[in-house]
Amino acid sequence: MSYNRIALITGGNRGLGLEAVRQLSEQEPQTLVLMGSRNVEAGEKAIRQLRDQHKHPYKNIQVIPIDVTSQSSVDESKQIIKDKYKGLDVLVNNAGVVDMESPRRTLEVNYYGVKRVYHAFAPLLNTNARVVYVGSGLGLFHLYDLPESLKNTFESETLTEAQLDEECEAYIAAAKKGTDEVKKRYGGDNTAFAYTFSKVLVHTLLRVHSRLNHVKGCTYVAVDPGYCATDLNQHSGFLPASEGGSRILKAIQLPQDEKLNGTMWSESKQSPFAVEWQEEYAAFKPQ
Ligand SMILES: NC(=O)c1ccc[n+]([C@@H]2O[C@H](COP(=O)([O-])OP(=O)(O)OC[C@H]3O[C@@H](n4cnc5c(N)ncnc54)[C@H](OP(=O)(O)O)[C@@H]3O)[C@@H](O)[C@H]2O)c1
Repeated sequence: MSYNRIALITGGNRGLGLEAVRQLSEQEPQTLVLMGSRNVEAGEKAIRQLRDQHKHPYKNIQVIPIDVTSQSSVDESKQIIKDKYKGLDVLVNNAGVVDMESPRRTLEVNYYGVKRVYHAFAPLLNTNARVVYVGSGLGLFHLYDLPESLKNTFESETLTEAQLDEECEAYIAAAKKGTDEVKKRYGGDNTAFAYTFSKVLVHTLLRVHSRLNHVKGCTYVAVDPGYCATDLNQHSGFLPASEGGSRILKAIQLPQDEKLNGTMWSESKQSPFAVEWQEEYAAFKPQ
């Protein structure tokens, strides 16, 4: 079977990633959906369960092993995609964790993992490719809890990845000293939560990549999937995972438009670069 486009979704074996895989597979039978999964068996099992639950063949889903914290794992998956499919049309940086015990691990997956995956796959991106960063409303709201100087750093148009790495390491160093130190430096209860800070970094990474590391012809967008019931939040989210998956799908399917580069799609306009689904999606909706 030949496919029109090739899509990779990291963390695709459960939660919102699995929903995005499922919905993309159903809506676009001509797209090969590569379900990124740290554990191949977990991915295969997820596909079997989809088939059972939805009575749909999902023939266009394949599992690809990828652990975003491991350079060798990311390089191997890149090599597989390069050898088999030559290029990539959709890259969704979805894999994420909340590790209350380890700010380092949270940031290794949610920030450094996104960076590693992006740089590995950027050379494979085809013309008109879409890069999606799964962000969070938490990261949008709490940008404004940060001290003014840090907020200005994150909003700066000249910010580089190296500076973002420094900010990430400074956060981890503060977290090692304890919650009081983090609150003192980062301004509030929520920014003391490494997950929230990781999403501030991801939203900033979107803008840095779309500005400095832009592969010609590609569009970079972030999406806030909403608060959805998944393992990440012990199923406390008030939206079903299918809703978060459908928002990720919308971000994948937004048309190519230079104006969209670097935009964050969200429920409300919480920052200067956020775009509201409700208000503005209609203008960009695929016909
Ligand atoms: N749920 C929400 O309300 C919500 C709201 C805003 C944003 N988000 C974001 O949405 C994304 C998905 O979250 P979710 O709610 O679907 O979480 P989830 O159900 O816990 O799923 C997380 C996924 O990430 C994968 N993952 C974790 N560490 C990984 C690593 N090192 N390498 C590769 N994959 C890894 C997991 O794979 P394993 O099965 O191997 O662990 C799993 O597939 C995250 O970026 C999260 O921050 C979620």
